[in-house]
Amino acid sequence: MRIVLAASEAVPFAKTGGLADVTTALAKALTDAGHQVWIILPNYERIIRRSVAGPFESTGIRLEIPVGQNLVEGSVVWSTVPDTDIPVLLIDQPEYFDRDGLYGDKTGEFTDNSARFIFFSRAVLETCRMMALRPDIVHANDWQTGLVPALLATEFGDRPGFDKTGSVFTIHNLAYQGNFAHWDMQMTGLSWEYFNWRQMEHFGGLNLLKTGIVFGDVVTTVSPTYAWEITTPEGGCGLDGVLDERGDDLVGILNGIDETIWNPETDPHLPANFDAKTWHVGKGTCKTALQREFGLPERSDVPLFGMISRMADQKGFDLIAGAAEELVELDLQMCFLGTGDPRYETLVRHLSNSYPDKVAATVGFNEALAHRIEAGCDAYLMPSRYEPCGLNQIYSLAYGTIPIVRAVGGLKDTVVDATPEALRNGTATGFRFNDYTSAGLLDAVTRAVAAFSKPEAWRQLVQNAMGRDFTWSRSAQEYVGVYQRALAAATGQEA
Ligand code: ADP
Ligand code: GLC
Repeated sequence: MRIVLAASEAVPFAKTGGLADVTTALAKALTDAGHQVWIILPNYERIIRRSVAGPFESTGIRLEIPVGQNLVEGSVVWSTVPDTDIPVLLIDQPEYFDRDGLYGDKTGEFTDNSARFIFFSRAVLETCRMMALRPDIVHANDWQTGLVPALLATEFGDRPGFDKTGSVFTIHNLAYQGNFAHWDMQMTGLSWEYFNWRQMEHFGGLNLLKTGIVFGDVVTTVSPTYAWEITTPEGGCGLDGVLDERGDDLVGILNGIDETIWNPETDPHLPANFDAKTWHVGKGTCKTALQREFGLPERSDVPLFGMISRMADQKGFDLIAGAAEELVELDLQMCFLGTGDPRYETLVRHLSNSYPDKVAATVGFNEALAHRIEAGCDAYLMPSRYEPCGLNQIYSLAYGTIPIVRAVGGLKDTVVDATPEALRNGTATGFRFNDYTSAGLLDAVTRAVAAFSKPEAWRQLVQNAMGRDFTWSRSAQEYVGVYQRALAAATGQEA
């Protein structure tokens, strides 16, 4: 199939979270399965140039995109995903995208995000048209590209090059909806007839995530459990009704691992590489190096817990705050890497200053350190309030780093709790807790600390974890099934 992946993030070009990992990994897996893929991204020039040296070449395509009353000019440059031939088309519009952040900067969210991403969504389809890509599928992701399925279902639907094009819309996080003022509807260029509570309007404003959900031929999200949770009032962030109406057209597909990037056997960021057989020695080396890097006592007998995260309410830092005093009473060490909400940045700094022998923290975004934490820790903390899929617990499994997770969303679908039964039958891979409370987290961590003191039991857990298969090829196959359904829906044929 000919597939266009439209997203606001893709590694190594631009990343704030898991969406970036997913875009590129899915593109690679689809390509490996014989499909033709184009990634279309905004050209966040000064950010991209920090991580990707180029070459960036002009396509010669010049865009003139209507954004409300204005015609906004842009152009398209291109590159490839490093070490592949997968084309990445970068929509160039310096005023919108050449900034010091993807969605905002130190002063907060950019105030023109609706214009920026309405422009981008139109530019995606305009680029397809001008480059004659004739996609079978345009796969849009999150609110930033929520307008794409709506444009395909309306204005672009009958245009040459799009009459046989289906749309898939993936929700990576329902909490970020792209809610804008009522008046921003005119910038979309679509008729006000769509501005109603069943389509693009949400409590009086324009909602771009809802737009994608309503107009996508098929809607997916990133785990089966989250696909169910978001149809309930508790998990639906106000959109459970619309999601529930999509019925079987809402599908949960788990994310996987890009093994060219996250693989302890080949990871170039590590002081030692290892596999399931050499785990004990390799992790020992990585752990000592990490303890040294963080200034923690270099002890092999104490379990080291890690956490790498956007510091947002979603991720459970309030549970860590609530359990902190009891956690540091246990014989363990913790290291944190993250950036985001100043409250949580202060929290981890405060903990590391107060308990320098037990807690260490780096506030910032550091890809290489993230790899060293995954490899050097014994266990990984992911006490999320909600989690659509979550990638770090999956990376942890691959690195023999036992995840401690709250049993929600993708965490529930990827981590098997170490119950006596699961330990006996060799399926246990981590520690789960149910209630979103500090006591629940503390209990799971306490169980993990106890298990760590029994080397044979811990070894078994690690072997189970490292033996799990989360390669992208399986998930990519499920996406292809969804693409076929979407194409059939768009062209009025049976899948
Ligand atoms: P989310 O997308 O909700 O942030 P995921 O677990 O799906 O959560 O993905 C997060 C991704 O971002 C992982 O690849 C993780 O390693 C990375 N990441 C998050 N914060 C940082 C950071 N401060 N430094 C480096 N990588 C980070
Ligand atoms: C979102 C979710 C995360 C998911 C990622 C990639 O950022 O918060 O759970 O893994 O998208 O799909």
